[in-house]
Amino acid sequence: MATETDFNWAGVVDYAKRFGTVRPKTQYELPGVTVEDHLGVPVAVVPLWHAVVTARLSLPKGELKDLKRAQERLSQALEEIEAIYPLNPSGIFIQVTYGLAYFKEYIPASLTAAYMPRALDDDKSQNWALIDAIKFPKDPATLILEHNDVSFHFKSDYNDHISDVIRVLFYPGAYSLNGIPLENVYVGDFLNVTSIRRGFGGRGMPRTIAQRLRIAGADKIPAGAMLFMGFTSSHVHGLAQGNLPSFETVPGYTDQTPESYFANGTIMHLSHIAINLEGWYGLDHKNRLQRMFNPRRTEQPENLSPSQAPETSTFRTDLERDAKQTGILGHNAQMQFLSRVDKDTTTVYGEKVPKGTVIFLRQDFDTVENPFEFNAEGPVSPTPVPGVHFIGFAPSAQLFEKMRKEMDGVELQKKYHLPDENTGFTTFLVTTHRQNFLEPPRARRSFPLVELI
Ligand code: HEM
Repeated sequence: MATETDFNWAGVVDYAKRFGTVRPKTQYELPGVTVEDHLGVPVAVVPLWHAVVTARLSLPKGELKDLKRAQERLSQALEEIEAIYPLNPSGIFIQVTYGLAYFKEYIPASLTAAYMPRALDDDKSQNWALIDAIKFPKDPATLILEHNDVSFHFKSDYNDHISDVIRVLFYPGAYSLNGIPLENVYVGDFLNVTSIRRGFGGRGMPRTIAQRLRIAGADKIPAGAMLFMGFTSSHVHGLAQGNLPSFETVPGYTDQTPESYFANGTIMHLSHIAINLEGWYGLDHKNRLQRMFNPRRTEQPENLSPSQAPETSTFRTDLERDAKQTGILGHNAQMQFLSRVDKDTTTVYGEKVPKGTVIFLRQDFDTVENPFEFNAEGPVSPTPVPGVHFIGFAPSAQLFEKMRKEMDGVELQKKYHLPDENTGFTTFLVTTHRQNFLEPPRARRSFPLVELI
């Protein structure tokens, strides 16, 4: 039986009880996200508003006391926010991730050597599963590879929740949230914000926002589209479910086990991509459908959510056949031989997943920023540009790198003499920034490894 001291007298409302929420062990699982039916195809209704804040730690290196205090303070700040807003789309989701610079510059090498997840990659070099992002063959010369220490990803159906949380975390002098006085949520004295990136994802939003801003190509965006490029990108069967993207879950990607320090953690890739909407909508529906999915697709323009069920997966032989027979590669077909398991698989937790189950998770969102709302390290233009703040989770940065290379598709393009405009849709994209981060499990989301120093 609960005793007087077990009961949380200080909590204002126990949202976990009200919504029956069980806090996931991972940070990336989103309790309360519902699923809707698009002509028999299940689609996740993701939170409407999104923001990413990147930052550098301003603490002197080697000052253990300051780092330990920062760990306590960030942990307390996140707990305080989550006591005010429920962990669901009507409250707020916060994911905290760490860049390579944090692990290399703030954590002693003896600890990182013992605890950092290592990729079981083809070359057997046992590199960390977190490596620097690279420039891919079709990236522009202007691409910026970033080196932030920390990033925060916020999601909510209410834009104000995100703005208010960003204000109390990073700007001094804001002492309440939802009208409730705060104790110690400000962390801006040890985290220098380098960028704020905002956006949205929801049926009808891309067209409404693009039309309001008079973005060229806006009228061509289907009215019910969730993303600028028209097709649904949150198919339940196209997004890794449960804890599938974690380091340890599917055997063979990293050396992590359910007992490891970073179990229930993952790698996050963050990039900003501008989209040439006029060019994309210069193609007719059939050509867009085939370049988005694969050249065997026949869905009509009314269907924005073609099934992504495991049996629709494209593996390597189908991909090469597409190239040989039709001269066209579809975006998701280009990578499914890497993003999905190629045989029936049992996870380390004993879950059986059939061949064709996706293990890569995307939580990207549309934006009209050019390139960010706030950018301490470069210019910001007020001219709106349609784009995506791309966020993808995979058990290793090496796996992400392989997928992203396939998306450029240079090898198959050469082999089958494919023109750029027939190789997925990379030709309509310009990536401006990219970085890899490690997302620790929820329990270790505040400055991982510091408690072990
Ligand atoms: C403007 C940028 C992008 C757009 C509009 C976009 C859109 C989409 C759409 C509509 C799908 C299929 C629908 C679904 O599975 O829910 C998809 C699948 C996929 N995308 Fe993208 N994508 C973009 C960028 C990227 C990037 C940068 C990557 C990085 C590697 C990526 C990786 C994938 C993968 C792996 C899949 C297949 C997942 C699976 O079915 O197994 N995408 N994308």
